[in-house]
Amino acid sequence: MTFCTALIVGAALQTAAAGDVEAGKRTADKHCAVCHGPEGMGGAPEVPHLAGQHADYMSTALQQYKDGRRVSDFMVAMTVAVSTLSGEEMSNVAAYYASLTPFTQVAAQAAKSDAPPEEEDPFAAVKAMTEACAGCHGEDGNSDQPGSPGLAGQHAEYMVDALNAYKTGSRKHDMMQAFVEPFSTAEIQEIAFYYAVMKPLRAETPMVGDSFAGRAPAAACAVCHGEDGNVEDPKTPRLAGLDSEYLAAAIVAYQDGARDHDVMRDVVAALDKTDIANMSAFYAAKAPKALPVLKPLTTKEWAEKCNRCHGPGGNSTDPRFPILAGQSQAYLIKTLKHYHGGERGDPMMFAMSFAMNEADILKLAAYYARGAAQ
Ligand code: HEC
Ligand code: HEC
Ligand code: HEC
Ligand code: HEC
Repeated sequence: MTFCTALIVGAALQTAAAGDVEAGKRTADKHCAVCHGPEGMGGAPEVPHLAGQHADYMSTALQQYKDGRRVSDFMVAMTVAVSTLSGEEMSNVAAYYASLTPFTQVAAQAAKSDAPPEEEDPFAAVKAMTEACAGCHGEDGNSDQPGSPGLAGQHAEYMVDALNAYKTGSRKHDMMQAFVEPFSTAEIQEIAFYYAVMKPLRAETPMVGDSFAGRAPAAACAVCHGEDGNVEDPKTPRLAGLDSEYLAAAIVAYQDGARDHDVMRDVVAALDKTDIANMSAFYAAKAPKALPVLKPLTTKEWAEKCNRCHGPGGNSTDPRFPILAGQSQAYLIKTLKHYHGGERGDPMMFAMSFAMNEADILKLAAYYARGAAQ
């Protein structure tokens, strides 16, 4: 905390604050410093830095806590803190914090540029996690092993269900269960998304039956799986182009209950071995269609979107948009999760964070927290 002593009440660099800075300092020392630190810096990890933040933005935030529009897990703390403050006192305390040496400058000591990290692979982490899967499912999710399903271009939602089913044991498969065991919910989603964006190819594996003879019995399945085994419903797997040995085994697994699924058990209950083999070949022979999923963005691509409002490197000079550069990393992570989940209800930020996954949030928080000198 040595730098704290050097942080003296200085000229407002960011915002010409309307409010009485001296009166604001008294309020801050009395009511706020216990959590936000003596100079609006250095609170607990999830407490935002306030030093040098836009006064208008902070006044609005305080008003929102007071009237309950801004809700968070710390709502009680902040609501209590501001409950006794008048509008004028809020402007004053906001003006005081805005007048302090901005947290961007403190962070800037560590960071030299506002350029987002140069090209990085948005899938780097998930690729490392799925290294062990490639042997059976193929490096690009297209399997050439009889009995192993292709994963490329399969619906992400379906794959999340499938991986969770292995985990809980409702889909009985010791080997896949062991593979899935170590993954968290977020990692399972990332893995599923990773395979879903890949281009599916038809499996080049031997056919277990006669694809022409499979056409007639497969008509009963078209209502859910599509005429040609390609389907839009994200909970229903695409069958087109999957390995026929795997498809046949999957149907038997529904019949004997190794895969616990009421709908599928009923529809395949009456099928005999020949039908199963022929229908599997019928679907295996069909051309798989790629899904219209969006590619994930790199940190650089994300930051370009964010910086349109939050300024270069998050150094906003517009009082409507909070400064992000040098903000507490834990606070940024928590806040982006709150926008993403709709708990902090700002329509602009909800729209921005909607398509983010956990990894995007971590990368963006790290990028902004690192700070960016201008
Ligand atoms: C008990 C601890 C605590 C006290 C006391 C407290 N705060 Fe906070 N404050 C927090 C936490 C935690 C957050 C983040 C809450 C969230 O996620 O919205 C926060 C958020 C804020 C924000 C929003 C910052 C942003 O970047 O959006 C402002 C402004 C703020 N506090 C000002 C104050 C002022 C002024 C006082 C004194 C009147 C005060 N706080 C007292 C813990 C506290
Ligand atoms: C040794 C070979 C092997 C490895 C390694 C392997 N799998 Fe599998 N995987 C299979 C087989 C075989 C099945 C079919 C199991 C069954 O009948 O339920 C399967 C099924 C799946 C399914 C269900 C597909 C569907 O259409 O329902 C998913 C998803 C999956 N694996 C993902 C993974 C991931 C992710 C990894 C790596 C962490 C992995 N697998 C590692 C062989 C393997
Ligand atoms: C009412 C809708 C519906 C009908 C009709 C239906 N299915 Fe399914 N099918 C599903 C759903 C949903 C799943 C995913 C179940 C799960 O999560 O295990 C599925 C899964 C499958 C799978 C597993 C694919 C994989 O990647 O593991 C196969 C194979 C399959 N169906 C074949 C058939 C066949 C053959 C028929 C016709 C006899 C049929 N289905 C009829 C909805 C249907
Ligand atoms: C269209 C303008 C706009 C864009 C683009 C935008 N934001 Fe925001 N952002 C805002 C506004 C307005 C607020 C204040 C909302 C509120 O009061 O909750 C905000 C608030 C935030 C906060 C909370 C800061 C604090 O101190 O509590 C974070 C974090 C944030 N944005 C990150 C991002 C990231 C990351 C992106 C890019 C993915 C982004 N924003 C894109 C307008 C935008």
